[in-house]
Amino acid sequence: MTDNSANSMWGGRFAGGVDAIMEAINASIGFDRRLYAQDVAGSRAHAAMLATTGIITEGDARAIDQGLAQVKDEIEAGNFPFRTALEDIHMNIEARLKEIIGEPAGRLHTARSRNDQVAVDFRLWVRAQCDAAITGIEALMRAFLGQAEAGADWVMPGFTHLQTAQPVTWGHHMLAYVEMLARDRGRFIDARARMNECPLGAAALAGTSFPIDRHMTAAALGFDRPTANSLDSVSDRDFALEFLGAASICAMHLSRFAEELVIWSSAQFRFVRLSDAFTTGSSIMPQKKNPDAAELLRAKLGRILGANVALFTVMKGLALTYSKDMQEDKELTFDAADNLMLGLAAMEGMVRDMTANREALALAAASGFSTATDLADWLVRALNLPFRDAHHITGSLVKMAEDAGIDLPDLTLEQMQSVHEGITDAVFEVLGVDNSVRSRISYGGTAPDQVRTQVARWQEVLQ
Ligand code: ARG
Repeated sequence: MTDNSANSMWGGRFAGGVDAIMEAINASIGFDRRLYAQDVAGSRAHAAMLATTGIITEGDARAIDQGLAQVKDEIEAGNFPFRTALEDIHMNIEARLKEIIGEPAGRLHTARSRNDQVAVDFRLWVRAQCDAAITGIEALMRAFLGQAEAGADWVMPGFTHLQTAQPVTWGHHMLAYVEMLARDRGRFIDARARMNECPLGAAALAGTSFPIDRHMTAAALGFDRPTANSLDSVSDRDFALEFLGAASICAMHLSRFAEELVIWSSAQFRFVRLSDAFTTGSSIMPQKKNPDAAELLRAKLGRILGANVALFTVMKGLALTYSKDMQEDKELTFDAADNLMLGLAAMEGMVRDMTANREALALAAASGFSTATDLADWLVRALNLPFRDAHHITGSLVKMAEDAGIDLPDLTLEQMQSVHEGITDAVFEVLGVDNSVRSRISYGGTAPDQVRTQVARWQEVLQ
């Protein structure tokens, strides 16, 4: 790893050779080789533009283009000679190009700097990750929709404070995640649209005196337009921060469902059975089936948000324009993106494969006085009581049932009338959980019909 030969790019200046420690801290080739395809694409677009504008000859541009194609092939075939002494992917590729095509390689860097080069490479890479995130989120949304459609009318307890609150439907709970994921998807779409401006041509920081055509390179690389300020172009990494921000929020959502899966798959809850594919056994306790994938997904936000905070901290207070600090942007973003994509894929698999335990869900839905609100609402509707009085009466009935060790529907009519004589037989209709969920027909409510309407809406959006 110690290569003390003089750096070929700036020759005599460091004739004594770059110190090994300096090389180790300075070089980014160990990780930024991941940008090779973007670097080649950016260089090909730049070379074509240099020829069209007459800055280099068509012949040189053709040689450069063919040489770059070969470089890409070599990298993909695994026989490209990566050299740490050449610091980063940009100089590694240019040096190899020179070995392949000779003198014209030296013309590629006309009207360009590594500052705008790395800005365009990284933007292209992050943009592609936005697309991958959008695709992954849509696949996960489809998995949740499948569950929602199957269990549109399965009852389960709805929780607040993790205490039984009111009965809800399985489909409704699954759709809550569809909504969260849809907003996550929207954040990646928005971030992608905002970052889709091309910094190439900003050169080192001030633009260039060569008659370049930035609109041409922007269009060739799929950008909407060139960036409008050269200083800003080479100095901001807000596009990566937006990606990490969207990734953090999405990972937070995944962590919440992951936590629910951990709880739900426990022997105490038995709400879901996770497939063998996403669980592991214990080496010592034969009865165990550990929700490892869910636990890891619960944790992934830690490193994704960590990357977000780290990059913020790197960027904070940096004077314009480019500073080498910014080289620290890549590993963080690579790691966060990898883990987000992995997390989305793992969650999709788990959601598709999991089996809801309808009986356990229904049993739990009916316990914990989950229809107490329905009873209070009934008192308001049937007896025209003010809600506060109805709430008080219901509280007394819950206490009575609790003392007797039974649930609300198990109280006799006489027992109920001892609390309020106006109560009639009709009250038992609202004490069943099925009736309870069916009655919640307000827009966005948990009623099975509402769930089916929302499932149909999302299926249309996603088709
Ligand atoms: N490896 C560098 C980075 O990732 C490329 C840009 C270097 N520019 C410079 N002026 N040294 O940031």
